[in-house]
Amino acid sequence: MTETQPELPLFPPSAEFAASANATAAMYDEADADRLAFWATQANRLSWNTPFTEVLDWSGAPFAKWFGGGKLNVAFNCVDRHVLAGHGDRVAIHWEGEPVGDARSLTYAELKDEVCRAANVLTDLGVTAGDRVAIYMPMVPEAVVAMLACARVGALHSVVFAGYSSTALRARIEDAEAKMVITTDGQFRRGAAVPLKTGVDEALEGLDPDANTVEHVLVVRRTGMDTPMTAGRDLWWDEAMSTVSNEHTPQAFDSEHPLFLLYTSGTTGKPKGVVHSSAGFLTQAAYTHYYVFDLKPETDVYWCTADIGWVTGHTYIVYGPLANGATQVLYEGTPASPDEHRHFQVIDKYGVTIYYTAPTVIRTFMRWGRELVREHDLSSLRLLGSVGEPINPEAWRWYRHVMGQDNTPIVDTWWQTETGAAMIAPLPGVTHCKPGSAMRALPGISAKIVDDDGNELAPSPDFGEHTTGYLVLDKPWPAMLRGIWGDPDRFVETYWSRFAEQGWYFAGDGARYGSDGEIWVLGRIDDVMNVSGHRISTAEVESALVGHAGVAEAAVVGATDATTGQAICAFVILKEHAKELGRDDMVHELRAEVAREISPIAKPREIHVVPELPKTRSGKIMRRLLRDVAEGRPLGDTSALLDASVFEAIRAAK
Ligand code: WT7
Repeated sequence: MTETQPELPLFPPSAEFAASANATAAMYDEADADRLAFWATQANRLSWNTPFTEVLDWSGAPFAKWFGGGKLNVAFNCVDRHVLAGHGDRVAIHWEGEPVGDARSLTYAELKDEVCRAANVLTDLGVTAGDRVAIYMPMVPEAVVAMLACARVGALHSVVFAGYSSTALRARIEDAEAKMVITTDGQFRRGAAVPLKTGVDEALEGLDPDANTVEHVLVVRRTGMDTPMTAGRDLWWDEAMSTVSNEHTPQAFDSEHPLFLLYTSGTTGKPKGVVHSSAGFLTQAAYTHYYVFDLKPETDVYWCTADIGWVTGHTYIVYGPLANGATQVLYEGTPASPDEHRHFQVIDKYGVTIYYTAPTVIRTFMRWGRELVREHDLSSLRLLGSVGEPINPEAWRWYRHVMGQDNTPIVDTWWQTETGAAMIAPLPGVTHCKPGSAMRALPGISAKIVDDDGNELAPSPDFGEHTTGYLVLDKPWPAMLRGIWGDPDRFVETYWSRFAEQGWYFAGDGARYGSDGEIWVLGRIDDVMNVSGHRISTAEVESALVGHAGVAEAAVVGATDATTGQAICAFVILKEHAKELGRDDMVHELRAEVAREISPIAKPREIHVVPELPKTRSGKIMRRLLRDVAEGRPLGDTSALLDASVFEAIRAAK
């Protein structure tokens, strides 16, 4: 994963940017001198109904309590307080629909009205604090309203990416015992209206009636398509919203009141419901959004291209920007709809100043070519961000040169669903960046790279050999996950057992220090893949494959891919009867099966039908060797293999 190049120039901030940057170098010293006092200052950027009395209680480690004694309402902080401060006319959301021409802007005052109405609808339908509400929606303003309405009444939302299958939705509804589902009739995908609400029907029909906790399904009209509604259970959002008041008094909740669940893939087939808190999460979301993106709420137009189905959408579309009173673009579609110009047209149309996307999107732009980009006026851009996977130095430089006019800071932000908010990132205006490195932990955050025994690694040269270590977070942070829904043991085991003695959180990533002690994150070292910034576990895809009647065994690996970071490669052994179908038909059928079971995003790029899988004597599949095969490399160490000849058979089958 190293890149060889003759020199590595640093990218310092421009004097002009530094002069008006929100962040200062002194923040590192301030946080080092008194970390908890530093976090108290950040928490006090929020509006509290009852001030907190204790910054951190770590006595129940690894279960943290931040800002104890305090009470606040998250939705009030994201909406009402800006209206009360006189910013009701400021645009909160410039929504840009997928069909060209479909657009709508909502001011903070309008957003407040809608959130209050939705909170009244939820309350009227019996949703109370602590209940779980599943949200299965495309990128429409109502999705943001629904999330904030949940926060306002203290219900936990569980947003399920609208690209997930009804099977995946069902598993998440069931695990969280959701009381309500909020969805849309359909969604626009590459110009076509496709149904979504029927996916909710399928999910609920497949539930054991005793396990079906869903009382109501609220349906937003997005496409206007014919949609079956179940009497007594299903309600149209617009009808429900029209009969309730736009006044709603928010209740203050304890700092530790859970704000949301978000399911993410782990190393087993069962997704984990990551639980986040109210005050700690919002504190770090707002803090990082303000400093890492250098947000100037009065003048910036911010755009994060993530989907609300992922944590990036939670933290950097909904909670961080809105807590800071930002004006932002919310875009419903993909970068290539209707054509490759769309993102650049949106930047130009709204005068976007801050743009936050994923390396896979940047690499796609690179493929389309700079001439296309140069047809558009991108001079409004003043800061660019990256998230989701390591950004290769070449993509970093292209991003800065072609989109950033050789001038904008690039913030490469490392974090995870579990960390809740950015952890390792440059401070724009302060940090001298190296392309491809997320640089160092933010003020108030502590990260280390250690070896197997927990000894910290030494800085390594920028070129040539270096040692990879484990990336750990050695001190608690406000937005840290508070657990896995319904499974405290799995929480402890998954994150806190690798370095239990030291009490550190192990993130699952490998990393190394560069020559100046900066952090280079190299990617997952567990069985989790990263495809276009989406996290997918090998076990989940394997279980979808073996769920097919024709498959005897399956092994899945992530192989390096020039655009998507990693691509899913599957090796399957077929049952006798399935061999009759013909290999191509079977492969086609299996890819469809994975899309049905999980999502089209989890479809393997390639499926190889093989006679055997490489296993150790204890029966463990040697994924490392399969990765070598998938990437066309000579095989690594095969000494642990039970039967080294399987590879001849696999290669022959490929
Ligand atoms: C995993 C977390 C953070 C929101 C989106 C993904 C990888 C994320 C970076 C980065 C290198 C990165 C890591 C991490 N990752 N950002 N800037 N540089 N790697 O959230 O689905 O929870 O995935 O994404 O491997 O562990 P997620």
